[in-house]
Amino acid sequence: MTLRLVVLPGDGIGPEVTRAAMEVLRAACAPEGIDVETTEHPIGGAALRATGSPLPDATLAACLSADAVFLGAVGDPAFDGEPRERKPETGLLGLRKALGVFANVRPAKAVKGLANAGPLKPEIAAGLDLVVFRELTGGLYFGEPRSLDLAAGRAVNTLPYTREEVERIAELAFRAAEGRRGLVTSVDKANVLETSVLWRRVVEEVAKRHPAVRLEHQYVDSCAMALVLTPSRFDVLLTENLFGDILSDLAGALVGSLGLLASASLGKGPGLFEPVHGSAPTLAGKDVANPIGAILSAAMLLCDGCGLPRPAAAIEAAVEKVLDAGLRTVDFATEGITPVGCSAFATAVAAVLEAEGNAVAELA
Ligand code: IPM
Ligand code: MN
Repeated sequence: MTLRLVVLPGDGIGPEVTRAAMEVLRAACAPEGIDVETTEHPIGGAALRATGSPLPDATLAACLSADAVFLGAVGDPAFDGEPRERKPETGLLGLRKALGVFANVRPAKAVKGLANAGPLKPEIAAGLDLVVFRELTGGLYFGEPRSLDLAAGRAVNTLPYTREEVERIAELAFRAAEGRRGLVTSVDKANVLETSVLWRRVVEEVAKRHPAVRLEHQYVDSCAMALVLTPSRFDVLLTENLFGDILSDLAGALVGSLGLLASASLGKGPGLFEPVHGSAPTLAGKDVANPIGAILSAAMLLCDGCGLPRPAAAIEAAVEKVLDAGLRTVDFATEGITPVGCSAFATAVAAVLEAEGNAVAELA
């Protein structure tokens, strides 16, 4: 079997974490006899510099015909203040829309041995195990009308949702809850926003089809507070695009580093897999980024994007082994521990996978 992947390294630390993730993905696929063919394309700031567009036609065409797409990160301060069509982020948003990846799945789980590293008391952090289902192709990010008139001092964004848009993401969130602890927390602002009133109505209808799942509604402000106070009570968080963007960074802080979080963006066609973190321009080129979010996104690519749960589970287990052995990137380095770089961490994970692959080959 051959996997045809499109790889979009992007900006900042994107290329470093992408290299790390692809090294690990190949090491996980080799013992399974899976060939991995990758083609790289520019997106974001890198694409703006090379072609004048943040999402060149050739990049988009390649993504649309791939088995799955892996993306590092986009964002480059050199384009701050530029109009929307010349922003790196516009490339990513255009890609999400064109791929139709409406469901952004972002798991956040306390990592054994790292629970002390975050801002929470260890006993509060320890039980954290949630997944954010973020609607990704609608809401404030894409709503029309939108406008910016700096001279007139007026700007407009719009938060629209349709029944169909809410229903399809809610359905996936409930199915996920059925395989987890059976709780969906739908996050909205229904005390203020009409969109949220519709959101609630549709989510309640979907809930009726899933009687084994308990549904609760929570306002987004109160949810942000509860996530810090009692993170372990949450299971599946279901929410609109911008709320999900904000809450998933909060979840990153709760597990100790945004660098740990992975994501899958799913629709009907090829999925898009990217770490939750951004391009972190100040860290770029120094080999200090934490590649775990990118590596676990590669695992999600195999499992959720290509139907290959076995090499995906092998990657997760190998990351855990390397952490158990005490390797830490700089975001988790404590006194007395010399941190390893992004590339060294990835090579250690790949080495674990290769050693296991060899052991299996010897048995065969
Ligand atoms: C994310 C990022 C993106 C978003 C940016 C880069 C457009 O913050 O994936 O969370 O806001 O969705
Ligand atoms: Mn974000």
